Amino acid sequence: MSKCKKLSTLISFLVFIECSKAANILGFLILPFVSHHICLYPIFKELASKGHNVTLITPLISNETSASNIREVDIEFIGDVFNQLQKDVMKKTSMVYGLFYYYDILINTTRAVLEKDHVRKVFTDTDYDLVVVENISPLAFAPVLLNKAPVIGITSFEGFLNAQDAVGNPVHPIINPHFFLHQDIDLNEDLPFFSRLISTILNFTLRVIYKYYAIPSSDTIAKDMFGDNLESLGDIERNLSLTIYSSNPIVNTIKANVPSAIEISLTHIKSPDKLPKDINTFIDNSKRGVIYFSLGTNEFCTERVKNKIHIIKEVINNLPYDVIWKWDDDTLYNSENFLIKKWLPQQDILSHPKVKLFVTQGGLQSAEEGIYYGVPIVGIPIMYDQETNVRRMVQMGIGERLNLEHLGVKNLTDLIVKVANTSHYREKVNELSKLIKDQPMTGVDKAVWWMEYVIRHKGALHLRGKTRKLPMYQYYLLDVLFFIAVFLLVILFGLFKFVQVLLRLFRRLNNIKLKIKQN
Ligand SMILES: *[C@@H]1O[C@H](CO)[C@@H](O)[C@H](O)[C@H]1NC(C)=O
Ligand SMILES: *[C@@H]1O[C@H](CO)[C@@H](O)[C@H](O)[C@H]1NC(C)=O
Ligand SMILES: *[C@@H]1O[C@H](CO)[C@@H](O)[C@H](O)[C@H]1NC(C)=O
Ligand SMILES: *[C@@H]1O[C@H](CO)[C@@H](O)[C@H](O)[C@H]1NC(C)=O
Ligand SMILES: *[C@@H]1O[C@H](CO)[C@@H](O)[C@H](O)[C@H]1NC(C)=O
Ligand SMILES: *[C@@H]1O[C@H](CO)[C@@H](O)[C@H](O)[C@H]1NC(C)=O
Ligand SMILES: *[C@@H]1O[C@H](CO)[C@@H](O)[C@H](O)[C@H]1NC(C)=O
Repeated sequence: MSKCKKLSTLISFLVFIECSKAANILGFLILPFVSHHICLYPIFKELASKGHNVTLITPLISNETSASNIREVDIEFIGDVFNQLQKDVMKKTSMVYGLFYYYDILINTTRAVLEKDHVRKVFTDTDYDLVVVENISPLAFAPVLLNKAPVIGITSFEGFLNAQDAVGNPVHPIINPHFFLHQDIDLNEDLPFFSRLISTILNFTLRVIYKYYAIPSSDTIAKDMFGDNLESLGDIERNLSLTIYSSNPIVNTIKANVPSAIEISLTHIKSPDKLPKDINTFIDNSKRGVIYFSLGTNEFCTERVKNKIHIIKEVINNLPYDVIWKWDDDTLYNSENFLIKKWLPQQDILSHPKVKLFVTQGGLQSAEEGIYYGVPIVGIPIMYDQETNVRRMVQMGIGERLNLEHLGVKNLTDLIVKVANTSHYREKVNELSKLIKDQPMTGVDKAVWWMEYVIRHKGALHLRGKTRKLPMYQYYLLDVLFFIAVFLLVILFGLFKFVQVLLRLFRRLNNIKLKIKQN
């Protein structure tokens, strides 16, 4: 290395230290899902490894010792609270109830977290330079006012409507239909009229419920906890510096993002590791190719899969392939052609060239992994956004879908063989794999860059879109359209009257002419 180069390296190193003074960062994650954790944790880990002092309130304590400057605050108890709330609500399966009470579950979960003194104390422990909140309910922002730090909302999926509304990111029922709308439609094509109608009504309803139910009931709880002079959570939410959300144009829909809506993806993709010896031997020895089965980690998913275990077992026995299955009960049986384990290094398995197919429930992270590693899928969606993700993957031609309720030995076997043994699925997924990897920076780097931007400038309120302040009638141009409609009506009416008068005149003239002739 030349002297000059050495010097410039040293200088850039010093500049780096100068620019990125270690900051105090607080992360507040609430939902007890492994999928949320694997998406968001790498961002905090990266912040810590860049020298920041990170405090992370989380329901899933990570067992990584490498990140020494992450202080984790354990709220593992929330797993049971959330599951109980969800069980209670799922007993009542009406659609209207569902719309309402998903806010209720999220608010009650957040309240249970904030009721703990050791959690509330964390917010006032020290002066933070940045607070990052998992944006799942308005109540989560209540303790933020205890600290004067700028705030970022973050979600491990597309996020709820309010996460976008908070920073004025334009969301439109036709361009970005609700991700829970399970319809057989290509989300990037024109929607049929009925779908547009449903999407519009759904979004309107969600906004009304949010404004007139979720915010006020959160306000009541927040005032109870933090004092009466707390500002409305709706206003606090409008002061978010950024919304960071996980979505990408391959798996999800195309978004029109304002500068403060930061779309990240693939944050959970890790650098490749060597496979454990037994798994490696199993795959290497496979003459027929390997199918990888994993139907998720969420308790509610596995609960429902349990009823279908006898079918899956029989399918695995019949398949002309070797099978690796991630499942809680690893005593089910093992054979030469079949490996079952509670935990498996999913990404390292998918990246092995002998793995022909991924049978998945279709969560966003699994979908991304399948595409990233170029493995076609058979999707068996169970709940949440899985139905939408799987339909999307089928539309893109990288796999097929089968309903959990409609699982049969023959049709699952046939479907797996069809996808594993037809080359166009593989060709298509390899094409998408190249696309999804080709990005200017990784999801983690992007999130970290923007977080440091907010720290450097003590907020980023100037990047928010105007939409956040617009009433709905203005956003949808209802007043303008109404005015134009009335204007046109007036003109039409005027024209009509004018023609009427003309006709009358004409008739009268005719009459006069006739009279003159008769005379
Ligand atoms: C790091 O964060 C902890 C907890 O918020 C705080 O007590 C500590 O003082 C911080 N350390 C530095 C060097 O700022
Ligand atoms: C860390 O280990 C504990 C105890 O072994 C376990 O309950 C927890 O799920 C682990 N956390 C993660 C993120 O895997
Ligand atoms: C949430 O808590 C409120 C107040 O305790 C209760 O009325 C409501 O039923 C709870 N909601 C759910 C979904 O459990
Ligand atoms: C409807 O809400 C979803 C998120 O909940 C969003 O993605 C979509 O863009 C929204 N559409 C409208 C019209 O607001
Ligand atoms: C929002 O931010 C502005 C500008 O920093 C500040 O004046 C206002 O008090 C904040 N409002 C709330 C509710 O935090
Ligand atoms: C698959 O087979 C099962 C059992 O024979 C049947 O009930 C189910 O309807 C079939 N599913 C589809 C999608 O054809
Ligand atoms: C795969 O397809 C080929 C020809 O298209 C066929 O000969 C072969 O038997 C199929 N393999 C399986 C496992 O069905």
